[in-house]
Amino acid sequence: MKQDMILIIDLGGEQNALLAREIRALGVYTEIHPYDLDADTLAKIPGIRGVILGGGPNNIVDGVAVHPSDAIMSLGVPTLAFDYKDAAPIPEDAEARAALLNDFVFGQCHADKNWNVQNFIEDQVELLRRQIGDGKVLLALSGGVDSSVVAALLIRAIGDRLTCVHVNHGLLRKGEPEQVIKVFGEELGANLVYVDATDRFLSKLEGVAEPEAKRKIIGAEFIRVFEEEARKLVGVDFLGQGTIYPDILESGSKTVKAVKAHHNVGGLPDDLKFELVEPIKMLFKDEVRAVGKALGLPDNMVYRQPFPGPGLGVRCIGAITRDRLEAVRESDAILREEFDKAGLAGKVWQYFTCIPDFRSVGVKDNARYMGWAVVIRAVNTVDAMTATVEPLEFAFLSKVTNRILNEVKGVNRVLYDLSPKPVATIEWE
Ligand code: XMP
Repeated sequence: MKQDMILIIDLGGEQNALLAREIRALGVYTEIHPYDLDADTLAKIPGIRGVILGGGPNNIVDGVAVHPSDAIMSLGVPTLAFDYKDAAPIPEDAEARAALLNDFVFGQCHADKNWNVQNFIEDQVELLRRQIGDGKVLLALSGGVDSSVVAALLIRAIGDRLTCVHVNHGLLRKGEPEQVIKVFGEELGANLVYVDATDRFLSKLEGVAEPEAKRKIIGAEFIRVFEEEARKLVGVDFLGQGTIYPDILESGSKTVKAVKAHHNVGGLPDDLKFELVEPIKMLFKDEVRAVGKALGLPDNMVYRQPFPGPGLGVRCIGAITRDRLEAVRESDAILREEFDKAGLAGKVWQYFTCIPDFRSVGVKDNARYMGWAVVIRAVNTVDAMTATVEPLEFAFLSKVTNRILNEVKGVNRVLYDLSPKPVATIEWE
């Protein structure tokens, strides 16, 4: 690795991840490490130009005051402390912070501004080639940002020694499997195995109404299908994973309890043993997007809004039926198309439709009939823990409503969900 690095030592500071992002935004690479790093581990971290001690409330972890290890303190590079011992707190004012970090990183550490997307890609391609040698890699390619960027990096590093498996569980949005095939199979020339497992998933899900039961079935079946494909391939020793830095940070550290446990393709059987390949595990989401863009992935893949793993399965409320699944897929496509046309796509964090499992009365050809209702949801959030409703214009809502009522079979009512999180959640189940 060519780049200089500022090492952030985690002494329980809540803003360490933010500091890491801010320094990277200055063009210098950062990593967050535990306070008890030993000399051997430290020696393996290249390019350390400075250390930031990110302290928390009295640096108390599980009732004990924590301090950086002797090895860290004897690195002999400039050190900046926040909230540790007598050190000042991190300035709240963004400009003051930027000036302080800028002075430390460049004025005192003399770090080179060499953290950028192109250097990252070059370094990773080299590291991937070194790790994989002449081996083969398997990757579950969902079409989401993270797995797509991992695929594009691996294609650049090892070409057709990467096999991508795209499992269509029948719960993807309109056009998604087609785009994966077009971008990776055709344009990037990947070794792509496409599995249409729609019937298999839908028959497993038949009659299952309980949301968590649906999620479990979808997750377990996904692993089963992927495993079947993995067994068909010979000589694969590596498994690519789209793990990103927040996944690691949120999985907990010595000072922070886990926010949530992350697992990507976890749960593969023990006799399928792979070494993991995780080329974007040190990147924040915006950096992943920048890398994807530099690798030539299309904007609608790179700037894609979040989409749950169980897909439309949790937006077709209750027991999934093919008619409602089709209606939710079509109405979602209309909503996304209208968001694009109105220039709202990049401005709203997440927007989608869902379809409850009740009917209401409508009229058609002078006769009463029972039809489905489609719900429009559009929310903004920073971390998905809380969310506010996007105040969509009435004219926009009317236009989408008219299109859905005219174009989507079986639907006779469109509703707009005005509930923030909490009390509601973003998804309906
Ligand atoms: P909720 O509904 O909990 O959603 O407010 C918060 C965010 O998480 C997404 N979500 C999921 N993502 N698997 C996922 O990968 C899931 O089972 C799942 N459930 C919810 C949701 O779309 C929102 O962005």
